[in-house]
Order: sequence, then C-alpha cells, then structure tokens
Amino acid sequence: MTDPHRPVYHLMPERNWMNDPNGLVQVDGVFHAFYQHNPYGALWGNMSWGHARSRDLIHWEHLSIAIRQDPDGPDASGCFSGAIVNHGGVPTMVYTGVRGDDELCCVAWPEDDELIAWRKYADNPVIKHTPQDVATTIFRDHTLWRDGDFWYMGVGSGIEGRGGAVLLYRSTDLIDWEYLHPLIVEQPELNPESALISTGWECPDFFFVGEEPALIVCEWDGDPVAVSWYRGEYGDQRFHAVSKGVVDYGDCLYAPQTFRSEDGGRLFFGWMREKRSDDEQVAAGWSGVFSLPREVIFHEDGSLGFVPAAEVMGLRGDAQHYMVSDGGVSTSAACEIEVAATIPVELSWPNECIINWDGEILRVQARDEEFAAPLNGPLASDASLRIFIDHSLVEAFLGDRIALSTRVYREDACWDEATVKADEGTEITVWGIASIW
Ligand code: FRU
Repeated sequence: MTDPHRPVYHLMPERNWMNDPNGLVQVDGVFHAFYQHNPYGALWGNMSWGHARSRDLIHWEHLSIAIRQDPDGPDASGCFSGAIVNHGGVPTMVYTGVRGDDELCCVAWPEDDELIAWRKYADNPVIKHTPQDVATTIFRDHTLWRDGDFWYMGVGSGIEGRGGAVLLYRSTDLIDWEYLHPLIVEQPELNPESALISTGWECPDFFFVGEEPALIVCEWDGDPVAVSWYRGEYGDQRFHAVSKGVVDYGDCLYAPQTFRSEDGGRLFFGWMREKRSDDEQVAAGWSGVFSLPREVIFHEDGSLGFVPAAEVMGLRGDAQHYMVSDGGVSTSAACEIEVAATIPVELSWPNECIINWDGEILRVQARDEEFAAPLNGPLASDASLRIFIDHSLVEAFLGDRIALSTRVYREDACWDEATVKADEGTEITVWGIASIW
C-alpha cells in the first residue's frame, strides 16, 4: 500500500531510518549524498552510512551501504557522522567511530571511482583519545578545510561548564593529527539572556565563501536545542563569532551539512525529523528525509540565507496560474506554490496548515502548533513566497531571507485546495511535482 505521508521528491532511503547528511561531495560532476542510516529498522540504531548519487541534485539513485559497524573495530557501536574531502585527488572519508562511550575519529577510502565500496584505515581511530587537558562532553562529527599546507578539522564537542565547542586539529595527511585548541567555545553573550544553551555542539560545519568564514552548529543539551549559523572573524586559527541566526524557523530540520559544488556554490542538505510516534514510524517502515537542496547566501548585512538551489526548478511539472480573485487554488500532496510576497498574503488548508506573511513575520501554523520567523533584513521588492508540499513535509521560503519547515501528517492525507488571501491582482502559480523515483 502506498503511504500517504511518505515524501516523493525529497531524498530518503528506500526503507528504514535516516538521520544526518554525511560526506556530501561532488566528484567528476556526480553528487554523492551519504547519510546516517539504520539498515535494519525504522528507528535509530546500527548506525551505518547509506549512499545515493545524482547528476542533477534532484533525481537520486540508491547505492549500497558505504560503511557499517565492525564488531571488532573502533566503530563497533556505530559509524557516526562525518565528512568527505578530496585529499590530493583521493576522496577521503572522516567519520566518528563509536565503541561503547568512546567517540573517536576514523578514516576510510573508496576502492572504486564510484565511491561504492570503502576500505577503513587499518589503524583506526586516527585520533586515539580526546584532548587531555579538555573536559569534553561529546567528541563527534567532523568539518574539514584546507589552508596552506594543512588540513584543519573541527570536531563537535562541548566543555564542562562552558557549553558547546568546536575543537581544532590539523594534519598534512588526514592520519596524523595535532590538537591545537578550541576553534570556538559557546559565546553566551550571543544567546537570549546571555545564558549557555548547550552542553555540546553536534555536526559543526565551518566553511568559507571567498575569505568570508561561517559556522553552522547544532546546539544540543542531550536533545536538539537549535540549529544556528554564526558569522564572525577568523584569525590565528580561532573563530570569534559576532552574530548568530536561525537556519530554519520550523521544528524539523537538524544536522545540516554544506558542501562546495564544482561550480563554486555552497550547497546544503538537512535532516527533516519525523514528528510521529515510534510506533507509527515502525508501522510506516521508514523515518527521516532530506530537505530540498538549498543554496547558502551570504548577505551584505552579514547574515546567511538558505534558498532552494536553482536545480529545484527542474522538479516543476506543468504550471497552473491563478489570480487571487479566484479564491482557491488547486494544490496537491506534491507541489510547489509561488506567490509574490505582497502584504498580507495567506494560504490556508483549513484546520491543517496556514501560512501567513504580514510584512514582518512569516507564520506557519500546523494544526495547533505555530512557528514564527521575523524578517531579519531587507527583502528584495520582487521577493516571493515559495511553499513546497511533499506529503508530510512542508518547506516555506520567503525570498532569500527566511526558511521555515515542519511536518504535517494530515488525517485525510490530501492537499486538494488552498484558500488564498492577498491583494486583488496577486498571481499565484502552482506546479505539480512528480515522484523522483
Ligand atoms: C546528530 C547526531 C550526531 C551523530 C549522529 C548519530 O543528529 O547525534 O551528533 O554523529 O547523529 O547518528
């Protein structure tokens, strides 16, 4: 039986559990997406790296599992998140091997040009223990960049009493690592009421666009707290943040990872968590889905934006055009809706989902939950509101300023018709989207 809540145009495994995007990379034109995966069930466990590839960033092909736990290895309890970098022409995987309470950095290389089979380094882990003078809370997930003769690597961590942190290492060969110091430790002055909000930062992603540094981290206190971007200054191998913001104003995006495409853009995928009970996930036989591919925008005012990558337009089927005076628009469970960001504009699927833009705040009401995203900078005069519905997943984008995603499991599982309120003369376009599989 087809599952009415299962997305059809977002990347997800054929069955079972997925969480974080891992090792996102483009090699010889081909995009590879690896992801945290439980091959044996629809709940978290048996952490392996699943693998899919694409030539166009929107249509994917499932491949075999890239790495899985080795009962005798340093990853006996799981192959957790990490990255892939191109080291002198060799794609090299850096991941977190977990054995009991130990979370340590491990390395693997592909045995073929298609990155299908992977060989783990015989002397894993390549970092044998956490830094001796640091009282770490967690020590997992890796972000790497090249500077001069060195690879630099940030490890997601936290320091007792000081909050989240990224610990910085460097190496010339990705095997011998020297611990330097924290790249950054949580700066409570950037948080509400100057309070610490994390015990650890998961899935750090530190990157440059030109000379401009940025950091994305998942603030965590035993459970996910927030996913934030930080801008600031990088010098002496330390990152000092001067501002922070929200990556996605909804409640399902977590553990995003960015990567540089071969044409130089900075692309992004996140994990969209489920909001159903464990029993429902087990009954469905799947859990978790990627966000749409998004492009990271560096605004002149120093903030970051996340917009659907240009390739996403390739998903569009035939367009249907409406005027707001038509009252309602025909939508479907897999579609994109675009409407000019005139004020006010509201789309609603009664009792299930209301999306409202009042010129200051984008609000999404999903059943009895409401998410609000305040505009954080100038909006282009031709900005539009783009809404992507994919069965239980809703992603809304306001211009290049706001991303807001959530899950809506409609009881009737249908998204037939939306009511639109906006200025007379406002045009609305709806594109149906076919399954990518
Ligand atoms: C984030 C995370 C990572 C870890 C992975 C395990 O969702 O907890 O910190 O590497 O998931 O699956």
